[in-house]
Amino acid sequence: MTHTILPHGGTLVNRLADGPAGGGERLRSVTVDRWTLSDLDCLAIGAFSPLTGFLGERDYDAVVETMRLADGTVWPLPVTLAVDETEYADVREGERLLLRGEDGKAYAVLTVESRYRPDKRREAVRVFGTEDPSHPGVNKLFAKPALYLGGPIELLQRPIPQRFADYYYTPAQTRAAFKEKGWKTVVGFQTRNPVHRAHEYIQKTALEIVDGLFLNPLMGETKADDVPAAVRMESYLVLLRHYYPRERVFLAAFPAAMRYAGPREAVFHALVRKNYGCTHFIVGRDHAGVGSFYGTYDAQHIFSAFSPGELGIQPLFFEHSFYCTACQGMATAKTCPHGAERHVALSGTNVRQMLKSGQTPPPEITRPEVAQVLITGLAESGRTES
Ligand code: ADX
Repeated sequence: MTHTILPHGGTLVNRLADGPAGGGERLRSVTVDRWTLSDLDCLAIGAFSPLTGFLGERDYDAVVETMRLADGTVWPLPVTLAVDETEYADVREGERLLLRGEDGKAYAVLTVESRYRPDKRREAVRVFGTEDPSHPGVNKLFAKPALYLGGPIELLQRPIPQRFADYYYTPAQTRAAFKEKGWKTVVGFQTRNPVHRAHEYIQKTALEIVDGLFLNPLMGETKADDVPAAVRMESYLVLLRHYYPRERVFLAAFPAAMRYAGPREAVFHALVRKNYGCTHFIVGRDHAGVGSFYGTYDAQHIFSAFSPGELGIQPLFFEHSFYCTACQGMATAKTCPHGAERHVALSGTNVRQMLKSGQTPPPEITRPEVAQVLITGLAESGRTES
């Protein structure tokens, strides 16, 4: 008997179209942004199972209010399609719309089942815990058009960048790969940052008790001051080459955009990694947080709102990790008796500032090989931006 963890809701969704759209029918089109395109991809490959498309009104209300779909399945974040209210005022239920990217390519077909006007303030407060527009997720939400369309989608082609395209696996592929490797337990790791020593420490601590590490960096849209995805990808490759056992790690891109929804996004990240075939998921300090909007461990506490059975994936919680000069190693308050004066600590912002100005952070913070890749990559991406 093979041991494979069930996808969320029991069935791995596949909405990748076999052939071209709608047998030549002429469909009205909607242009969607990069964020929505990444949601489409995640929906189609089954990363967002059991969702088969954008949320209709009933599910949307239930998700916003209760962190569950209308049928009670745990689902903490709304996945929605926002369109211009005047332009699409006459969209009918059952109508099929062609979803195009900003590059003009046709990516998907949506069958409209629901159209509704969301209460965005309610969504902001329930999902992000704030309606402060300086929160990047809230800001994004308020900037979206006012009408939501829900319904199942079918993807015509995956919106994958050419560079690192090989790392864009489907959950069906990662599940098959874990099986082939003989991994019975796999820990998923979400990140939107380069892997610094603290990340490495919690990954390797988890890896001591499971068979494999699924390093699954988020590659979709992030806020402007986060390190660009391609630069990060280079940094993961160099880190893995130098410091990780090759046969125990699987690196794959997570195409989704970052919501910065803290606790709710931590549960969402865990469920998605279950879909990719993980049995365990790492939640450290301020997971998916931004600024000081969430408490350091809020994203861990939220898991107690659900029974282990309904999540179906085991979260592994880690405390704030640092390098201790007295212990001469990585530690947390659970394992180190020394005071803060012995701890090497730099905020993510500080590290980014150093890297941007070409300075190498201390090796207790970032591996030198990683720092080098980041300094070069950030300098190059800075040049292309300006
Ligand atoms: S996130 O937005 O994707 O959560 P980040 O890439 O920084 O941001 O974090 C990835 C994972 O590592 C999250 O689970 C986060 O809680 C954890 N983490 C980041 N830094 C630390 C740290 N210093 N100590 C413990 N956990 C950490």
